[in-house]
Amino acid sequence: MNIAIVSYSFTGKNDRFAECLAKELSAELVRIQPKKAVSYGSLTWDLLLQRKPAAEPEPESLQRFELLLFVAPVWMGQVAFPLRAYLAALKQRPKAYGFLSISGGADSGNPWIAAELMKRTGREPILVLDQGIRDLLQKEPAPTRDGALKYQLNAEDCARITKRALEQLRKTVPAAF
Ligand SMILES: Cc1cc2nc3c(=O)[nH]c(=O)nc-3n(C[C@H](O)[C@H](O)[C@H](O)COP(=O)(O)O)c2cc1C
Repeated sequence: MNIAIVSYSFTGKNDRFAECLAKELSAELVRIQPKKAVSYGSLTWDLLLQRKPAAEPEPESLQRFELLLFVAPVWMGQVAFPLRAYLAALKQRPKAYGFLSISGGADSGNPWIAAELMKRTGREPILVLDQGIRDLLQKEPAPTRDGALKYQLNAEDCARITKRALEQLRKTVPAAF
């Protein structure tokens, strides 16, 4: 099966995870590069105006894949904004897709992700996996917000989350293996 791992990362964690996943699935790794630099200012405007920031590669270039697995952070309860153009392209040309994230691990558990994906693409994802960093950090002392932001995925965490993702994928898309 022709699979692309389509990753976006602001501080490195999701890129690391995407690399592990692509290796295990022998899938092509496609990194999304926003055309304009991402800053806290730009993402605030993207949030307020519901913009779809332009990025490379062009979303149409992913047509050749049979399954797209997006790997990106959660921002303010939503899929990271650089993915929006790619999700909108799926609405025009439907294709199987999933969303996986190393997120901060919000208290509320990011409950709106699946509904947002459905709204933006017009179809349900085959897989949603939201792994909060807080669950990867040691419990004592209690992790701080700053500690979670600075944390980088180690090889052990990467292997563990990848295993979890593969188990879920095996159930929903056996043809991926
Ligand atoms: C502006 C902003 C908003 C965020 N909002 C959320 C959120 O709503 N829920 C959550 O679980 N994590 C949230 N986070 C934390 C990121 O999802 C988390 O740090 C993620 O692992 C970063 O991934 P990256 O290293 O690939 O960029 C937010 C981070 C930023 C920068």
